[in-house]
Amino acid sequence: MYNFEGKIVIITGSARGIGFAIAETFAENGATSIILDLFQDAVDEAVKKITDKGFKAFGYVADITDSELTGNLFKEIFQKFGKIDILINNAGITKDGLLMKMKESDWDAVINVNLKGTFICTQKVCRFMMKQRQGVILNISSIVGIMGNAGQANYAASKGGIITLTKSAAKEFASRNIRVNVIAPGFIETEMTAQLPKEIVDKYLEAIPLRHIGTSKDVANLCLFLASKEADYITGQTIQVDGGLIM
Ligand code: NAI
Repeated sequence: MYNFEGKIVIITGSARGIGFAIAETFAENGATSIILDLFQDAVDEAVKKITDKGFKAFGYVADITDSELTGNLFKEIFQKFGKIDILINNAGITKDGLLMKMKESDWDAVINVNLKGTFICTQKVCRFMMKQRQGVILNISSIVGIMGNAGQANYAASKGGIITLTKSAAKEFASRNIRVNVIAPGFIETEMTAQLPKEIVDKYLEAIPLRHIGTSKDVANLCLFLASKEADYITGQTIQVDGGLIM
């Protein structure tokens, strides 16, 4: 159990999947989780699931690729709560296909949400964190961003970009006591991976030394640690949650 009492945590793409698990886990550990996602109904439902258990959560609708809207929203959140302690850039999409046949629109869409969206949210939040002289930013990449993947050139490039974006931000923000790290999940059970055919899932299972698929909670637990005081001396790093899949 960590003590995040009084901490304000924004998690992008948190109406479902890994993002929701992160929001729920921080709230269970005392934080106020701010759920950001594309659709009002999904946001409301996610907030209710957390508040029904007696924990603190608020929801906002936002498309993180819209820089003006996102900037205004972060300002509104900062004014309402008086601070923003932690930002978790989790929102992400896939549009898989072989590079040779990949549509430029699929390339652009994935880079725009995963990489540019992470840049936009980081840029918008850093002005508040700099003022506070403290903050934590966690960026959700993927092991695919380290090793590449056939059929995912756009996704791999976006997730690899997140790793070097993080290192640059960590170097720029360190003097203001803002830490920035990457979490690179391996194969995690969510709606995103539920669509994969059984043969592919079985192939992954064979390659994972710990012999099971990860859960959203595995990712959320690492977020807790990296955002905690116990991780005060860790910045610019990429930490995998992948059952040993790549090493
Ligand atoms: P998901 O598809 O279940 O959830 C993603 C959420 O992001 C959705 O609620 C969606 O509405 C939201 N979103 C998408 N575009 C958005 C935008 N422009 N603005 C705001 N919100 C937006 O995905 P999942 O599986 O929970 O993945 C979360 C993150 O973890 C993603 O960045 C993904 O790339 C990463 N990841 C997932 C892995 C897995 O095995 N599921 C493995 C490695 C990384």
